[in-house]
Amino acid sequence: MSDAFVARSLDEIRFWSRIMKEHSLFLKLGFRCEDTQLIAEANQFYGLFEEIERRSHSFPAGVDPNQIRRFNAEVHNAASHIWAFKRKVLGLILSCQLPGGNNFPLLVDHVSREAMYFRNRLEELNSGRLEPLPDAIIDENVFFLRIMADHAKFIGHLLDPSERQLVEQARNFSHDFDMLLFQAKDLESMRPESQTVPLLDQFLDQNRVSVKSLRDFKQTAKDLIEACRIKSIIHPLLADHVFREAERFLFIIDMFEATLTRKKPIY
Ligand SMILES: [Fe+2]
Ligand SMILES: [Fe+2]
Repeated sequence: MSDAFVARSLDEIRFWSRIMKEHSLFLKLGFRCEDTQLIAEANQFYGLFEEIERRSHSFPAGVDPNQIRRFNAEVHNAASHIWAFKRKVLGLILSCQLPGGNNFPLLVDHVSREAMYFRNRLEELNSGRLEPLPDAIIDENVFFLRIMADHAKFIGHLLDPSERQLVEQARNFSHDFDMLLFQAKDLESMRPESQTVPLLDQFLDQNRVSVKSLRDFKQTAKDLIEACRIKSIIHPLLADHVFREAERFLFIIDMFEATLTRKKPIY
C-alpha cells in the first residue's frame, strides 16, 4: 500500500510540476515588457517548480513514505500559491489593468484549474481518501473534457487566421469536446443511477476515441510548428505541453478501464 502511495505521489508530482513550470513561462511570455513585477513573480514560480521537479526524480528506491507525505504537503503549498497567482492575473486582465497583454482570460482560468486539480490530487493522496470509482470516473472526465475543449479553442485562436483548414479542424474539435462535456455533465447529474458498468464503459470508450484523434491533431500541429511549416503564434513548447496533457488523459482513461474490468460489478 505504501509503495503504491509513493509511486502515485511521485508520478503526479513529476507530471504536474513540469506543467506548472511551463505555465509560469507561458504567462511570462504573455505579459507586457513593463509588467516587471509580474514577470519576476512568474520567474520565481518557474524556479520553484523546476526545483520540485528535480527533487521528485531524486528519491531513492524504498524511500520512507512519511518523507513523501511531507514532500506532498510542501508541493501542495506551492500549488496553492501558483493558483493564487494565476487568479490574481486573471483579475487584473478582467478588470482591464493589463491592456495589450497576450494572455487570454480563458487560458489563465484554464491553467488555474490545472493548478487546483494538482493541489486536490495531493490532498487526496495524503488523506488516503479516494473517491468511489464511478464518481472518480465521471469527475475526472468532466475535468479533462473541458481541458481538451479549451485546448482546441486556444489552438484555433493562436494559429494564423490564414491557416484556414487547420483553424477549421481546431473549431471542429472544440465543438466535439463541448458536446462530450455536456454528455459527461448529463451522466453526472443522473448519478448514482447512471453508474452502471456498461454505461461507464461506453462513456470511456467514446471519450477515448475523441481524445486519441485530438492527441493526433496536436501531434501534427506540434511537428509542423517545430519544422516551421505553419504560420502561428503558438510556442513550440505550448504545442508539446497540450499534447502531453492529452496523453495524460488517455493514460487515466486506460487506468479506469482496467479497474472497471477487474472489478465488475461496481456495486
Ligand atoms: Fe497546462
Ligand atoms: Fe491545459
